[in-house]
Amino acid sequence: MFLETFAIIISYLLGSVSFSVLLAKLLKGIDIRQHGSGNAGATNTLRVLGKGPAILVLVLDVLKGVAAVWLGRWLGTEQEWLPGLCGLAAIMGHNWPLYFRFRGGKGIATAIGVLASLCFLPALYAGIIAILSIVFTKYVSLGSLIFVVLTPIFLMIGGYPWPIFWTSLLICIFAIWRHRTNISKIIKGNENKLGSGGKGKD
Ligand code: G3P
Repeated sequence: MFLETFAIIISYLLGSVSFSVLLAKLLKGIDIRQHGSGNAGATNTLRVLGKGPAILVLVLDVLKGVAAVWLGRWLGTEQEWLPGLCGLAAIMGHNWPLYFRFRGGKGIATAIGVLASLCFLPALYAGIIAILSIVFTKYVSLGSLIFVVLTPIFLMIGGYPWPIFWTSLLICIFAIWRHRTNISKIIKGNENKLGSGGKGKD
């Protein structure tokens, strides 16, 4: 039990490294949570810092999820549920980071890393549909929600092991909760679109 607990704590601490906050501080001396949508993630980095930093943040945030799942696999060879729990811990760290007063992002990039590592094909199919929805609507938040909702549905249809399904369902619930402001803005028709300035903090 010690190793499993250790893996979960390390995953949370890893997830807590908020690359968008660090990069915004480093490049512009600002707190990204005071700009754009106020979210500490790749989408808001694109608004506030531009394409290059946004791609860097996206890749690093995805890698946090990948690393957490692999840590769980490595330390929990007997425990089928550990990789998923480590992935969830990394997402919690990203959303509520220990080092940044528990004000982080919405966990989608880290969830991409977690789900792609746990169940590559269902995550890929959900990801393709999500990207298409972003291309057509220009709503990144809608694409994020489509990704997290479709993945557990595909896992259920595909008969994947229960620990993976439950992990993806919890990821979906976390993401819907974190996107509640985006959801109400989408319904009202005033959600930020990709390429627009991104006014109105969450
Ligand atoms: O992954 C976050 C994205 O879905 C929404 O970000 O900054 O538009 O609230 P933002």
